[in-house]
Amino acid sequence: MISLLPPDVLIIGSGAAGLSLALRVANVARVVVLAKGPVHEGSTYYAQGGVSAVLDAGDSIDSHIQDTLIAGAGLCHADAVRCTVEHGREVIEWLSAQGVPFTRESNTEGVADYHLHREGGHSHRRIAHAADATGRAIQTTLEERAREHPNITLLDQYIAVDVITRRKLGLAGNHCLGAYVLDRRSGQVEALAARFVALATGGASRVYLYSSNPDGSTGDGIAMAWRAGCRVANMEFMQFHPTCLYHPQAKNFLISEAVRGEGGYLRLPDGTRFMRNFDVRMELAPRDIVARAIDHEMKRLGAECVYLDISHKPADFIRGHFPNIYAKCLEFGFDMTQQPIPVVPAAHYTCGGVMTDLRARTDVEGLYAIGEIAFTGLHGANRMASNSLLECLVFAAAAAEDILPQLDHTPPPPELPDWDESRVTDSDEEVVVSHNWAELRQFMWDYVGIVRTNKRLQRAQHRVELLLREITEYYGHFRISGNLVELRNLTQVAELIIRSALARKESRGLHYTLDYPQATESTPVQDTVLVPANFAGADAPPRWADHA
Ligand code: FAD
Ligand code: SIN
Repeated sequence: MISLLPPDVLIIGSGAAGLSLALRVANVARVVVLAKGPVHEGSTYYAQGGVSAVLDAGDSIDSHIQDTLIAGAGLCHADAVRCTVEHGREVIEWLSAQGVPFTRESNTEGVADYHLHREGGHSHRRIAHAADATGRAIQTTLEERAREHPNITLLDQYIAVDVITRRKLGLAGNHCLGAYVLDRRSGQVEALAARFVALATGGASRVYLYSSNPDGSTGDGIAMAWRAGCRVANMEFMQFHPTCLYHPQAKNFLISEAVRGEGGYLRLPDGTRFMRNFDVRMELAPRDIVARAIDHEMKRLGAECVYLDISHKPADFIRGHFPNIYAKCLEFGFDMTQQPIPVVPAAHYTCGGVMTDLRARTDVEGLYAIGEIAFTGLHGANRMASNSLLECLVFAAAAAEDILPQLDHTPPPPELPDWDESRVTDSDEEVVVSHNWAELRQFMWDYVGIVRTNKRLQRAQHRVELLLREITEYYGHFRISGNLVELRNLTQVAELIIRSALARKESRGLHYTLDYPQATESTPVQDTVLVPANFAGADAPPRWADHA
């Protein structure tokens, strides 16, 4: 039982986005941060490459903007790109001030400066990093700061089931009032009221059979926001990372793009380099191009994987730059200083999401979306490497700036009705849930992957509609579990992905379909915006004008 005064700010998610919002408001607001598993467990912890920012004297804001726009293939929102990139230095300095141990090197005056990596799509070295485990450094540092703060309560093993809005309670307007939350230890669902709610629940890449993401990337926040009446956009742009370690026990361990940034080559099983046949930028082309090239070569040759080779670099250099990747590969029998590593693409990042403005506000008043869950307009049709953590940090700061001045004059939420379990029983068919998980991930991989067709998407659509009906019925009859909550959400998100993919009659960025292999030439290129039946837009403030 959560025995707390209602917080000012309820943050659902404890990754880079959620924790930085918490730390930025906690000096004046009471904050509760929820994690559905252990507090550290989210994509942030596993991030390797780093955070992109203009920190080098030879680099410029305009160049970072330009690279982001090129990678985004015509769909980035210029205002979101500029706003994000311009705040790069500030958020890196904020992280450093929190204690994140970025890797440093001496500059020409002998002063320790950020050491910068290069990654695909970036025309300069601009990735600030903590060796090759940047996410772990960020997550553990922010978590430490949050635990020390007297105004922040971190609750692990609490999974949010749905946000509560005035509309859902039959009241006028559509302000967010809190959330229903399942305590995974006791199995009880409680109503948690708050003045403001921020969704920071990460992405949905576990909708695919093979993914670089931890198990919890099940799109919970996207589904919750959709059910609450928020629009979502560009869900067809699911990013596949080109290089995950190919080994049955490796669970798609990521091999950072920084390995290619530091000179790694991609090779076919016979040792031939092949990226020159696909893009003049070779191994450092944007991710969509590299992942598609690998997919093409694997299918052409019937190969199980391709190879990433940096063994031509000195062994000390490799061990020095990539200590964790080196150790992990060695665990699986591959010495990357001596031999190429087997790699395959895997689902990695959700470019679309809940529509927000530049202050992270959604269509529902008092409800914010920050981090990978959000569609801010930054990534367009393909996210550039290391722009994600940057977006988490910049938009968490923007949400804080929006919330802080409202705290004084926003009334506390009303008492919320209890969760009603009077019409449900314990499940006698838990097997339905596990079978549906497997089915969903398999058909999403087979039919909605790197290369799509209308026919494959339609097949997927029939299956997902059936699954949604089954799961909705199951949800209505049985007591909920964390597993069921995630499956319900992920199936909803899969439906949004498929619907968006069917709506885009062209190939662009990460969305590639054999039925329309070219990008349309008509401009402006349109986002795929899905509007829920209970969309609150009519009575919401005209905040979307920021993106017009
Ligand atoms: P996450 O860090 O994923 O955190 C989500 C949080 O939400 C978790 O605390 C989880 O418990 C909680 N949650 C979810 N659902 C619920 C619910 N229903 N109720 C309660 N809590 C919930 N990006 C970069 O910019 N640079 C990189 O180098 C980089 N490397 C990456 C490497 C890997 C292997 C992966 C997987 C991703 C990488 N990315 C990288 C992407 C980046 O790490 C993520 O986009 C980013 O960390 C997302 O942060 P977040 O705070 O939005 O969500
Ligand atoms: C990587 O290190 O290759 C991941 C970077 C990212 O996803 O931005």
